[in-house]
Amino acid sequence: MAGKQIQFYYKNVLADVIGPEHGITAQQLDELAKQTTPLIPKIKDEILTGNSRYGLLPGDPQIAKSVKALVKHFKPKCENLVVLGIGGSALGNIALQNALNPFTYNLDNNKRKGPRLFVFDNIDPAHFGSFMDFITPRLGKTVFNVISKSGQTAETASQFMIVQKMLETRFGKEKLKDRVVATTDLEKGTLRKIATDAGLHTLVVPDGVGGRFSVLSAVGLFSAAMTGINIDQLLAGAADMHTRVTNPDFFKNPAAINAAIQIHYYNRNKRISVMMPYSSALYSFADWYRQLWAESLGKKYFLDGGEAYVGPTPVKALGATDQHSQVQLYREGPNDKIFTLLEIQDFGRKIRIPAPPKCARELNYLAKKDMGELLNAEKKATEFALCESNRPCVTVLFPKIDAYTVGQFIFLFEATTSFAGALLDVNTYDQPAVELGKQATFALMGKAGQYTPDRSYADFAAEIRAKTEFDANFVI
Ligand code: PA5
Repeated sequence: MAGKQIQFYYKNVLADVIGPEHGITAQQLDELAKQTTPLIPKIKDEILTGNSRYGLLPGDPQIAKSVKALVKHFKPKCENLVVLGIGGSALGNIALQNALNPFTYNLDNNKRKGPRLFVFDNIDPAHFGSFMDFITPRLGKTVFNVISKSGQTAETASQFMIVQKMLETRFGKEKLKDRVVATTDLEKGTLRKIATDAGLHTLVVPDGVGGRFSVLSAVGLFSAAMTGINIDQLLAGAADMHTRVTNPDFFKNPAAINAAIQIHYYNRNKRISVMMPYSSALYSFADWYRQLWAESLGKKYFLDGGEAYVGPTPVKALGATDQHSQVQLYREGPNDKIFTLLEIQDFGRKIRIPAPPKCARELNYLAKKDMGELLNAEKKATEFALCESNRPCVTVLFPKIDAYTVGQFIFLFEATTSFAGALLDVNTYDQPAVELGKQATFALMGKAGQYTPDRSYADFAAEIRAKTEFDANFVI
């Protein structure tokens, strides 16, 4: 049976609330509806075809089936699960874990419904080395899930080479398959070659689904299922939202209206999009959103090839924490932001605040109140304060945080991104600007051969060094 639905609330962007200079008038809203409504059937098709087939994921029973088969195989002997991946191959895993498992999941054996989970999405040697010190004596009960569609990503490849060597030295080459799951392209790529060579168990990064849209594939689902997250509910929530974001009525379609509002403000010089969950559990979803929004919408070209240089800048903040860090700027700094606040109705936990000591009667207003009530009062208070300063805000309201509502949230923001890309008239699904840095890294790390037909990696490396080495004239 379907669970409760998340809701999208947008009154606080209206001119009636925040004034005509910064608010959206009734006429402008009608114009947004006119402009965006024709995109609804387009996006409905787009997310099922081509390079953007993430819309197929919630309805594909094979994905959950293959994930569950490997969970059954690996979970009984696994005390620690280590995900090696970066960007779209890590941020969703982290977000799901933090949203749906308790804060103390890794620390408290009584709270764990599966192995401890560690996600490594960086190559800081001090950080990784410290973890290696911890995990080396525990390798017997540790499974590594290396996730890379290409297998060429330097960060993931280097981590995996270290882990592979360590496991082979300890257990023997033929035992690697007992401790590693590779999630990669079905047929091609470096990691597929390695997996085939070593006979590893594999899961598939589906064709036509970019990393940042892949959390509802085996990329995100394996670590989620291993740690006891209900992936069927996650997918059911996403499927529920799929129906809502394909509704042809603009005013009933939360992704269409959300994107229309965001891009309306982008076009009026509010180019910063802040996501501020009033929930520590959802904070990592603001990180996931940053990648989704930045890589999808930050583009040099329009679809017709004309120069664009467009893209809102996504920023993450945490309520109530950042009220004591950012809100001064948000209210009195430039009015160049649109705020997406996440509000939770039922935190699933009540913590009563006791009466203050007699010497501190000024704290009486907190006595006997629930901590969640305080957090939600702070959300309303900040929303009110932002509106008083004519700052536009929308809210995504969660009845509670569970796999079903989180699945809805994921699909809502994936579809919002598709609508926003269409409104900006850019290719939402590529990320060409990431490539130069990747190639430059290859060159600096001594890759052999040609970077381009007329330029070797060695020559390219010399050029990079000439431009980036510290010039002593400017060092103080
Ligand atoms: O969204 C994306 O496409 C990227 O963030 C990739 O996921 C990231 O670069 C990792 O790539 P790969 O999975 O090939 O290692």
